[in-house]
Amino acid sequence: MAIDPLPPHAGRLLLGLTGGVAAYKAAELARLLVQDGMDVQAVMTESARHFVGTATLQALTGKPVFTDLWDPGAAGGMAHIELSRGVDAILVAPASADFIAKLAHGFAGDLLSAVCLARDCPLLLAPAMNRQMWEHPATQRNIATLTQDGVTILGPASGAQACGETGMGRMLEAAELAGAVHAFSRPGLLHGRRVLVTAGPTYEAIDAVRGLTNLSSGKMGYAVARAAAEAGADVTLVSGPVCLPVPARVRRVGVVSALEMLAAVKAQLEDGVDIFVGVAAVADYRAASTSRRKLKKQAEGILLECVPNPDIIGYVADLPRPPFCVGFAAETENLEKNAQTKRRDKKLPLLAANLVQDAVSSDENILILFDDGGRTYLPKAPKIEQARRLIGHAAALYAKWDGGRAGG
Ligand code: C5P
Repeated sequence: MAIDPLPPHAGRLLLGLTGGVAAYKAAELARLLVQDGMDVQAVMTESARHFVGTATLQALTGKPVFTDLWDPGAAGGMAHIELSRGVDAILVAPASADFIAKLAHGFAGDLLSAVCLARDCPLLLAPAMNRQMWEHPATQRNIATLTQDGVTILGPASGAQACGETGMGRMLEAAELAGAVHAFSRPGLLHGRRVLVTAGPTYEAIDAVRGLTNLSSGKMGYAVARAAAEAGADVTLVSGPVCLPVPARVRRVGVVSALEMLAAVKAQLEDGVDIFVGVAAVADYRAASTSRRKLKKQAEGILLECVPNPDIIGYVADLPRPPFCVGFAAETENLEKNAQTKRRDKKLPLLAANLVQDAVSSDENILILFDDGGRTYLPKAPKIEQARRLIGHAAALYAKWDGGRAGG
């Protein structure tokens, strides 16, 4: 089966910077977005250049920074049109009170405001200013006008300000803005779909302090949940014990053991699930009996009797009307053969395989996807980027699978 080509990047953003101390956060934002695989084009106003240099943004985005409406290098001398075409969104961060006022009235006297006026994509603004400038009726009127015009306002937050005052007007942090940007980059791929993801290890208690577990950071599962949310899905993440931030717009259900994970998955299935992605490293065994107290150390050693845990994804895939199931396989050797066997035995339409030695705890991995159409090799990349490719691939297969099911 022919698979739609994977997107070469996670989206295209035009990042506009206007004059404000928070411009330093925009530099960090550019770094985060580029790290996530996004193609970022920076445009700076003259005031922004008083706060951070073009060289910084150029180095972080790997592209020349545009500043001038009259740039002779732009195609047909129309930098404002050229720049606003082909991007998924424009984010202005920081957006100063002055720039917001210009946009609200449709001024286009500098490159960035002209780009915003000429755009045919969503516009996001991250205001940053002194609290009294933010609270001023003129600014509030302008914000209301822009909201009515369909512009998305991100923040601001309340807190300590560069001027020494405290209140509303701080620009959102770079990581928060990055999450919002991703939501606009490839919207709708899984819009209206419910996705259930398991992540992390499970912990099987032996006594009050001892237990059996697997090596798993949870990073891949959390990245898959984030990528599904970015694609517009309603996402629930059933997570074993890990300390990772919950991705934006993802519901987290915390569990400890495999039995708890299965119970949480069953509860979610009752509400209807379209796609199930089992990334969790579920412990294969649990102790046959457990003690609430701490057992005393035995000099001669102990014999631990274990019983098998249920196979969670196996259970889900075996249901009479299962969701589209995506499994993971972490292997130390014979990756392809073991992955194919696992996919067949567990009746999974799609399985993502990776090598334990280059995946566990790492921020990057290589993935090989196996499905009825063959194999797809995803070269080494950050886990969030791999997760986005996997979700793109799964969404394409799911659409055909769901269509086939509806047809009979
Ligand atoms: O059998 P193995 O653990 O290698 O299979 C890996 C896949 O099966 C993963 O998708 C994992 O989340 C899932 N799994 C499960 N329940 C188990 C064991 C594995 O859902 N008890």
